[in-house]
Amino acid sequence: MSDVAARLTAALGAEVVTTDIPERNHHDWSGLPPVAPLALIRPRSTAEVSVALALCHETGTPVVPQGGLTGISGGAHPVAGAVALSLERMNRVLAVDPQMATLTVEAGCILQSAQEAAQEAGLMLAVDLGARGSCTLGGVIATNAGGNQVLRYGMARDHVLGLEAVLADGTVLTSMNTMIKNNAGLDLKQLFIGSEGLMGVVTQAVMRLQPRPTHSATAFCGCADTGAMLDLLARTRAALGPALISFEVMWPSFYDFMRAGIEATHPLSGPHGVYVIIEAGGFDVGLRERLENCLADAMESGALADAVIAASAREERALWAVREAVAEYGRILGPLTAFDVGLPLECMAGAVAQLEAGIATRWPGARALSYGHMGDSNLHLVVNVPQAGAEQPAGAIKAFVYGMIRDLGGTVSAEHGIGAIKRDYLGYSRSDAEIATMRRLKTALDPHGILNPGKGFAP
Ligand code: FAD
Ligand code: LAC
Ligand code: ZN
Repeated sequence: MSDVAARLTAALGAEVVTTDIPERNHHDWSGLPPVAPLALIRPRSTAEVSVALALCHETGTPVVPQGGLTGISGGAHPVAGAVALSLERMNRVLAVDPQMATLTVEAGCILQSAQEAAQEAGLMLAVDLGARGSCTLGGVIATNAGGNQVLRYGMARDHVLGLEAVLADGTVLTSMNTMIKNNAGLDLKQLFIGSEGLMGVVTQAVMRLQPRPTHSATAFCGCADTGAMLDLLARTRAALGPALISFEVMWPSFYDFMRAGIEATHPLSGPHGVYVIIEAGGFDVGLRERLENCLADAMESGALADAVIAASAREERALWAVREAVAEYGRILGPLTAFDVGLPLECMAGAVAQLEAGIATRWPGARALSYGHMGDSNLHLVVNVPQAGAEQPAGAIKAFVYGMIRDLGGTVSAEHGIGAIKRDYLGYSRSDAEIATMRRLKTALDPHGILNPGKGFAP
C-alpha cells in the first residue's frame, strides 16, 4: 500500500478507503482503457470528503471525483497515481419542500431516485437523460448535463438553487440556498456547475422543482430532409410555445441502424429523410388537439411527410425506444468515436451531410450515425470504422470533425464536457483569454492542482 493510501486509511478507516478496487471504478463511459486508481475513497459524509481532500492537498495527491461513471468525456476516468473519490455512499434524498418547490439531495443520489422523490410530492425534477438510472446529481451538476428537455427547462445549471462543495484544501463551502432570488454577492455555486470536478467536490445540492404537466402528447414524425425538419421545429415552437418539451431528431444513419439493432418496428409506413420525436406537455386540456392541428398544418405546407401520435403511455415509450437505445452502442455498434457538438441551426443541414459524406470518403465502410437534441442545436455523431476493430482512428476522425465545427463557429462540447478526450480541441471553441481566466480561477481554488489534473481546462 502506498504512503498516501496508508495515511488516508489511518484518517478515515478501512470502511472508507480501499486498495481492493471494484472493476466499475476503473473506467467511465468514455471507452478509454481501464486504469486502476491508487486507492478508492467512498466517504459517507461531507466531513469525510473534507478530511480526504485536506490530506490529498497536503500530500499533493491527484484526486478524480466519481459519480455514476456514465460520463462520456472521460472526466471521471481514473488516471495513474490518482485516488478516486466516489460519492456513491452519499446517495440520499434529504428533503422535498412542496411549498418552496425544492429537493435537497446528497451528490451521489441517482437522478431517477431524485425524479421519483419529486413525483411522490406531486412535483417534477425537470432534468432528464438516458442515463437517469445510473448517473448521479453530483455528476449531472459537475457536467452541467443537458438531455431531452433542455428546450423547455434548460440545462442542469438552471435547476440548481443551492450547493455544498468541498474545496481542494478541505474547506467546506455551504451555499444551500433555497430561494429563486438571492443576489447577495457572487453566486459561487456557478464555479462548480459544469466544471467537471476541477474546482471542488459537490457534496449536496438544492434542486428547483416544477409543477407536473397535467396533459402530454408524443408524436413520431417523418420529414423529407433536414430543411423540412427545421421548418417543422419553427412551426412547433410557434404553435406549442412553452408546451414544447422535446424535439429530438434522428437521421436515417442513426435510426435505421439502431432500429435494426434493437429489432424495433417502424411506427411510420415508409422511409423518410429525417425522423423527429416531439414531446408536448402542459396544463391545457386542448394540448393534444393543438399538436394535431400543428402537425396537420405542417403536413399541408410540406414541412412534415407523415406522423403518428401515441395513444397510450406504452406507445409513448415505444416511440422513444430507438432514441433511448444509445446505451447499447457497445453491443450494436462496437468501438466508437463519439461527438457532442453544437452548431448554429442554419449550418445544420450542410454540416450533417458534409460530416457523413466526409467520413464515408475517408473511411469507406465506416458507420457515422447522426442524431441529436435539435431544439438545442446540439448534434451527436458516433463513428465506427468496422475494419479498424479495437484500434479506431479516433485522432484522425476528431481532427476532421472538430476542424469543420471550428470553421462553422460551433462548439466542441454542447453538453458532455471536455474531460480527458477533448482537451486538444478546447481552443477551437474558447479563446486564449477565456482559457487563461479559467486556469486563474482553478489556481485560486486548487493551488496544488490536485482535482482532476489533465482533464478539462486543468493544466
Ligand atoms: P460521472 O461520469 O461519474 O462524472 C462526470 C464528471 O463529473 C467527471 O468529470 C467527474 O469527475 C465529475 N463529478 C462527478 N461527481 C462529482 C461531484 N460530486 N463533485 C464534483 N465533480 C463530480 N449527458 C447529457 O448531457 N445529455 C444526455 O442526454 C446524456 N445522455 C446519456 C445517455 C447515456 C446512455 C449515457 C451513458 C450517458 C449520457 N450522458 C448524457 C452523459 C452522462 O450521463 C452525464 O454527463 C451525467 O451528467 C454524468 O453523471 P455521472 O454521475 O455518471 O458522472
Ligand atoms: C444522448 C447522449 C449521448 O443524447 O447525450 O443520447
Ligand atoms: Zn445528448
